[in-house]
Parts: sequence; C-alpha cells; structure tokens
Amino acid sequence: MITALVPGSFDPPTYGHLDIVGRCAGLFDRVVVAVANNPAKNPLFDAAERVQLLQGCCGAWPNVEVASFDGLLVDFVRQTGADVIVKGLRVVTDFEYELQLAQMNRRLSGTVTLFVPTNAEFGYLSSSLVKEVAAFGGSVEGLVPPTVVLALKERLANER
Ligand code: PNS
Repeated sequence: MITALVPGSFDPPTYGHLDIVGRCAGLFDRVVVAVANNPAKNPLFDAAERVQLLQGCCGAWPNVEVASFDGLLVDFVRQTGADVIVKGLRVVTDFEYELQLAQMNRRLSGTVTLFVPTNAEFGYLSSSLVKEVAAFGGSVEGLVPPTVVLALKERLANER
C-alpha cells in the first residue's frame, strides 16, 4: 500500500492542482492532499476553507483525503504514514525551487519527492494569477472548479 502526499497552499485550488491529484489517485493506493496552514502568507482562504473547497473537488476519487497541517511538511508526512511527496512542475523555473525543497525534506527525514509535470494546458496557471484576475473582475472560469469561482466571487465581494 503506497501513500502519496500532495502538499501545497491551494489558495485557491486550481485545475492544475486537481490534474496532479487526479493522476496521483490513479497511480497510488492512497493520496493525502496536504493543505499548509500558513497564516504568515496572508491567504485569501483560511486552511479550513481550503480543505473544504478541495474536499468538494475530490469526491470522485475515493482514495483521496484532504487535511491541513501546521509546521514542517516532513512531520506531517510521518503522521500520515505517507511514502512519498508528490509535487507538480509547470515550468523549468519551478524546478529550481522545488529541488531545494525536495533536497531539504530528504535531508530532514529521508522522504523522497516525486515530480509530475502538469498538463501543458495548465502550464501558466497559478493560484496567485487566479486571485489577481478574479480581484480585477476577470473571468477565471475553466481555470478553477465552479465551486471555487463562486467562493472567489463571494470572498472578493466581501473584501471590497
Ligand atoms: O503551493 P506551494 O505554496 O508551492 O506549497 C509550498 C509548501 C506548502 C508545500 C511548502 O512551503 C511547505 O512544505 N511548507 C511547510 C513548511 C516546511 O516544511 N518548510 C520546509 C520546506 S523544505
């Protein structure tokens, strides 16, 4: 039984994230989507909201669970009994930073990180861009699931 842990900020989840989670669901016995509780990053959605949004998007995959974590990722890897960390790579510049994280996590705990290239269709997509486009009233349909489109509209309307 192999468990993959897919960590991230997911603020908010995009179809790029879901593409990686879905492929992991087909490759591994169990997948834990791990939402980093990072208040210092001043997220638009708090960790509980991001977990709820992801749970709503992952219902089609019975072997996928969603949880949030505080502190070091490798401690959460140990807690969940995960065997590998999986990260998506969009472009070459992602690799430099992700390699640093992977090597640090390996040093801290011996955990291996596997990289999965994102679908080219989502190569330019990021949560930050989605938030920026949505904040200025642009359409993010087709980039994030409909529940996330709605959550963004509600949150941004309340912030105005
Ligand atoms: O979606 P992101 O922002 O690229 O995800 C980055 C994340 C949350 C996976 C990374 O920042 C992380 O693992 N944070 C937890 C704290 C930690 O373990 N830091 C040391 C990393 S080597």
